[in-house]
Amino acid sequence: MDTSFSPPIVTPRLVLREITEHDLREHARLFSDPDVVRYLYDPVMSAGELRAHLTRRLWRGVAAEGAWCNLAVEHDGVYVGEVGLGTISTQHRCFEVGYVFLPEFHGLGFATEATRAMIDVAFRDLGAHRVIARLDARNSPSRHVLERLGLRREAHLVANEFVKGEWCDELVFAVLEDEWVSPRN
Ligand SMILES: CC(C)(COP(=O)(O)OP(=O)(O)OC[C@H]1O[C@@H](n2cnc3c(N)ncnc32)[C@H](O)[C@@H]1OP(=O)(O)O)[C@@H](O)C(=O)NCCC(=O)NCCS
Repeated sequence: MDTSFSPPIVTPRLVLREITEHDLREHARLFSDPDVVRYLYDPVMSAGELRAHLTRRLWRGVAAEGAWCNLAVEHDGVYVGEVGLGTISTQHRCFEVGYVFLPEFHGLGFATEATRAMIDVAFRDLGAHRVIARLDARNSPSRHVLERLGLRREAHLVANEFVKGEWCDELVFAVLEDEWVSPRN
């Protein structure tokens, strides 16, 4: 099996494409918004840190174990956010999804649609056995995305991580390859 994929990925309303240097302005706007990064590991970053953060997200192909590949999400040619796919374990064929969207594009189903496409890539193109998502237990919008996609809540880890000065509960959601219903766009 060819375990690879190449952007762009096209869904009914979105195009998931490579992140480029030209995305710096919107990428910086996304990751310098305190409400957006509230439940992420990322702090609010300086201009230099934001540039380095973007550089780390430029497309380098399918991520090696322990790393992520990230894509920009566009709607009608406009940058609306980013999605990512992390390679957790090649031996166990486990991947993790992540998603971050600009506030003005929340509430439109874009995160659900883009994340569905990334999970589909993991199962269809990368041979995933299992796809997971991890989130701060207080992040209800993120939890709703995963519930909408039909992932199973498998764990609520109490005071599992020390993030931004406090112990945080973490939720783990997952779906297996024989449970996933491909969207077949
Ligand atoms: C997590 C995050 C991406 C969720 O965004 P969102 O806009 O709530 O999620 P969706 O894009 O799937 O939109 C869902 C909403 O759109 C509505 N919607 C409208 N059209 C829709 C459609 N065609 N399909 C699905 N939902 C649709 C849903 O009813 C839902 O509304 P509700 O929030 O009132 O219940 C967003 O809150 C975010 O970027 N947060 C900051 C970063 C972050 O925390 N990322 C996750 C880390 S684990």
